[in-house]
Amino acid sequence: MRFTPKNYSDEVEDRIQQLKREGMRLPQRHLLRTEEQLAGIRESAKINTALLDCIAEHIHEGMSTAEIDHLVYAFTTDHGAIPAPFLYEGFPKSVCTSINDVVCHGIPSPTEFLRSGDIVNVDVSTIYKGYFSDASRMFLIGEVSPEMRRLVEVTRECRDIGVQMAQPWTRLGDIGAAIQEHAEKNGYSVVRDLCGHGVGIKFHEEPDVEHFGKRGTGMMIVPGMTFTIEPMINMGRYDVFIDEADGWTVCTEDGLPSAQWESMILITETGNEVLTC
Ligand code: MF3
Ligand code: CO
Repeated sequence: MRFTPKNYSDEVEDRIQQLKREGMRLPQRHLLRTEEQLAGIRESAKINTALLDCIAEHIHEGMSTAEIDHLVYAFTTDHGAIPAPFLYEGFPKSVCTSINDVVCHGIPSPTEFLRSGDIVNVDVSTIYKGYFSDASRMFLIGEVSPEMRRLVEVTRECRDIGVQMAQPWTRLGDIGAAIQEHAEKNGYSVVRDLCGHGVGIKFHEEPDVEHFGKRGTGMMIVPGMTFTIEPMINMGRYDVFIDEADGWTVCTEDGLPSAQWESMILITETGNEVLTC
């Protein structure tokens, strides 16, 4: 008999079988991580979080976004890891830096400088021994207006609420609905065109984790899944467009600011574990 590493308990197995008979949408087996995979993913996540801590220490007004890129490349490779964005589907740099009305996927540049009043998202992803991790934070540069501060705070709350909602045997739609309610209650909108995702063995895996939606809908959340929650919240309307000049930079259609916070979590049998933040 061939030994297969077990990545779920008998109770989880029974429940999956029962739900399958009921026709529930469930994650494919390979999305439920083995202990061995989890050990690698945790190591990768540790480096990713330390990297964001390092950026938090060094980011400052007047710095170019290319300098952030250099920092990310140096820190990651010094830790024996690889920045996942680099050459990912042709992305030219090691990190995404997204300022003000840039929603995500901003490309670092030596001619772009952080100015007082800016809000900037720094999104880092790490490959370590083949395992992927992902997270982003917002940074406030100099004197930021109360309106923009509030956007950043509420967006962080949206991410945290999403993480709290990510419980075993609930649905992905429960996460999206809770995030959407909190954003809209505060007068903001949730970007529709980009979402969270499975991550760990690859950079972007199933499922898509939308930050809007309806409770009681979508895939069942099952112990062993690892995925991101990374709401992009706009001060104005949710419409976005991609800069045609570089094919990457996502901007708000109305030019108003956007914020994003991203964490990666593991669903456990009793709740979840935050792997990156
Ligand atoms: N880090 C982003 C995410 O949260 C993905 C960036 S893709 C890149 O999923 F190519 F732009 F790096
Ligand atoms: Co992500």
